[in-house]
Amino acid sequence: MNWPMIPPPPDTPPCGPPAPVDGGWVVTRHADVVAVLTDPRYVVPVAPGGPPGTLAWLRGTVSRFSAPDRHPGRRALGVAALRDLDPDELRDAAARLTTRTLDRLATAGRVEVMGQLARRVPLEVLAARLGLADPAAAVPAVTAVAAAYHPGADPAAVTLADRAVATLLAMSPPAPAEAAANRIGLLVQAADATAGLIGAAVRHGLAAPAALGTADLLAEVLRLDPPVRATRRVATGPTRLAGRDIGPDATLLLRFDSANRDPAVHPHPDRFHPAGPDQADHAGCPADAGRNGHLALARRPAPALTFGAGPRGCPGERHALALAAGVVEVLRARCRPAGTPVRYAPHPTLRVPTSLEVTFR
Ligand code: HEM
Repeated sequence: MNWPMIPPPPDTPPCGPPAPVDGGWVVTRHADVVAVLTDPRYVVPVAPGGPPGTLAWLRGTVSRFSAPDRHPGRRALGVAALRDLDPDELRDAAARLTTRTLDRLATAGRVEVMGQLARRVPLEVLAARLGLADPAAAVPAVTAVAAAYHPGADPAAVTLADRAVATLLAMSPPAPAEAAANRIGLLVQAADATAGLIGAAVRHGLAAPAALGTADLLAEVLRLDPPVRATRRVATGPTRLAGRDIGPDATLLLRFDSANRDPAVHPHPDRFHPAGPDQADHAGCPADAGRNGHLALARRPAPALTFGAGPRGCPGERHALALAAGVVEVLRARCRPAGTPVRYAPHPTLRVPTSLEVTFR
């Protein structure tokens, strides 16, 4: 199979040594990103907290923005809630809800994937299984919280998010405050990233041959067009990274999108290559001519970093992949690209289409 090239999305920095930008550092190479994510001297920017039941309280209570001493206990709360969810069941439920939605929209002939499916189905399925009393009503509330979850949100979005946190708490099962916050945190973490993955898979893979499995499609889309493009860390003291001196309190922007195309770990970084360059059929890949098995093993590509790595890596990876697969499998069977332009919401670290149309086959 001669797989296509997928060029980097706009503004993806090329791979290179850590670079000073705007008073901080941008880290782009695969090994450097992993080194930072697994080094306890680099910490996440900690959220200070706020009055109970507000967005600031949520941010200050979830594991995602917790200081190292609070992080393990809070992460365990989210992991425990996820342990009860069976990814196969999530995938089937997402597929059923997608099917019902498409049945309802069939007479219109067109589907706007982001609003009607990608931003709705994974959250509704997850909210139901996490015990929220009204899963359909939880979807807009989670979306409002997600819109203001990362630093720099505008005040109007924060006001909406404050109300949405109260709504979500009111429909959550009774639990101590920290457990309730981290349960809601699962939904908020899932929201944009899973929608973005579905959008990217539809954009790049809706017309792909049926022989390409949806799991392989999702894995390669996560590498080449990651919905989470980057994350941040702060240095707790003077450190040295790849020969560069990083000062105390320096902010590091870790670019998953760049690292996922690092030629040091991906011999053909821009080629969509689902089974991995070393395991797949190499026909049409002239650069592979003459490679022997040992060389191939030595160059086995590293996994994409889109779910992070280390003690704060995404605990919802299997759930995200299952939910996205349920939606994308049904779309692949029933829809084709509409050919209309795909637009993206501006965001410093996320890449999520604002709208993405498909038509029925
Ligand atoms: C394609 C979808 C997703 C992507 C790409 C993604 C990516 C990530 C990344 C990169 C991080 C780590 C951030 C960092 O280290 O700074 C993270 C954290 C997290 N994710 Fe995901 N995620 C996805 C879906 C989900 C889903 C579906 C859930 C829940 C069901 C989830 C729950 C979480 C939680 C709770 C954290 C914080 C973990 C901690 O505090 O240790 N994510 N995610």
